[in-house]
This record gives sequence, structure tokens and C-alpha cells, in this order.
Amino acid sequence: MKCSVPEWHRQLTSTNSVLIERVRAGESLSDGFILAAHEQTAGRGRAGRRWFARPGSNLTFSLLLRGPVVFPEIASLPMAVALGVATALEALGIDVQTKWPNDLLVKRRKICGILAERCAPEATVVGLGLNVNMRADEAAEIDQPATSIAIEKGEAYDVQEALGFLLPHIETWIVSWRTRGFAGLQEAWTQRCVHVGEYVQVRDGRHKQTGTLLGFGSAGQMLLREESGDQREVWVGDLRAEKSDEV
Ligand code: BTN
Repeated sequence: MKCSVPEWHRQLTSTNSVLIERVRAGESLSDGFILAAHEQTAGRGRAGRRWFARPGSNLTFSLLLRGPVVFPEIASLPMAVALGVATALEALGIDVQTKWPNDLLVKRRKICGILAERCAPEATVVGLGLNVNMRADEAAEIDQPATSIAIEKGEAYDVQEALGFLLPHIETWIVSWRTRGFAGLQEAWTQRCVHVGEYVQVRDGRHKQTGTLLGFGSAGQMLLREESGDQREVWVGDLRAEKSDEV
């Protein structure tokens, strides 16, 4: 798997939305095509949320994967991409944790979010927002703890160079995922993952489940032990420590 030279735009509504439209319109974009924008006017996050990023200072891009990706494999695709970003950030000297299903945290503050969307029977788009030059005062205005590469390293980074640096790491983990599915990620994912062994809550809309996070099943689903002792598999939701303001 090889990513394309990124197609950069000054401004797009959302790199995910635009890439999905282009695929559906029949444009012949190859596996590994990368669409990046310096500014998104309607960036989207998981569960219908918005994704805000100061224009020109943070990384927002989408990756196209060709080929059928169906349930349950699609559940672990963003986890593979997250591990790629984690290993890249680690190479910069930043200690990164994963958070199920597909966030990256530094000292329990969010630095990266990922949104995977299947847009055709044989095409999936994975969008990634990485806080590169977000300042501490901007991070403080977000409704959950956040950080950026610049906050962690104390210096600004070139956003286009950051993307170039990330892509080989992402390619490596996608190859592993394509070859072995979640089995190729499980150890690395679990080692880095926050909340394993902790009492957590997971919310999906109004539905809330609580229990001890035991680990992850063969497709990346969360394994939760309820207070009754029953074990449950959880496929979607927002995870956080129970009785804590932490993410
Ligand atoms: C999340 O944590 O909620 C996922 C955020 C994903 C944001 C990225 S930015 C690039 C791509 N285009 C979008 O509109 N969203 C994703």
C-alpha cells in the first residue's frame, strides 16, 4: 500500500465529505489517494459532532482505501491508522496513548481524532485531524482536554511536512491490518490503550453501559465486564473513565 502525493487545497468543506462525493461521482482515484486541506469550513467528527481546527495550523486530511471493507473489519481500520500516527509521534519524542475506538491522547489529552466512513461497496475514506500547532489557549477552549504537537514540543511544525512524515507510518500499519486484521494490531493497541483494567462508561447516544474494560476482542470490539459479572462486547460508543472528568 502506497499513499499518493497529497492533493492539497487551501479550503474545503470537509476532506471526508469531498472525497466521498468524488468517489461516488465515479472519479478514478487510486488506493492510497490523499486529500488534504489547510482549512475545513464544515469539518466533521464522530457521532455527528463538528471538528474545529484553526485554519493553516493543524492537519486535516482523508485517505482513500479501495477494496471491500465490511463489518467487522472496518471496526479496526481506524485503529490501524491511529497506531501509524502514534508511532510517528513517538519518533518525534511524544509519548502517545490510544483510546478506544480511535483517538490518540498525550497525558490523557486528545491530540488526534479519526473518522472512517465506507462510501461505496469497494471504497472507504479515513479522515484524520491532528492538532499540530494548536496553542494552549485554543486547547483550553475545547470542551474536552486537548493538546498539540507544538504544545508538547514547545515549537511550531510545518503542517505539510507533518503529513509527509506521518504517511509512511500509516502505510506500515495499514499493510499489517490488511494482512492480519486486528490480530496484527492487537498487542500494540492494547499496550498503548488507556483505561484497560479500569472501571469505565461507554455511551452511545442515550445508552450508557458501565463495567471494567477487560481488553479487546478479535475484531477490536471492546470487552466489558459488567458488575453482574457478565461479559459484553461493545462495538460503538464514547469511552471514558467512570466517576472522572478525564477523557
Ligand atoms: C473525532 O475525533 O471525532 C474524529 C475527527 C475527525 C476529523 C477529521 S479532519 C479531516 C477529516 N474531514 C472531516 O470532516 N473529518 C475528518
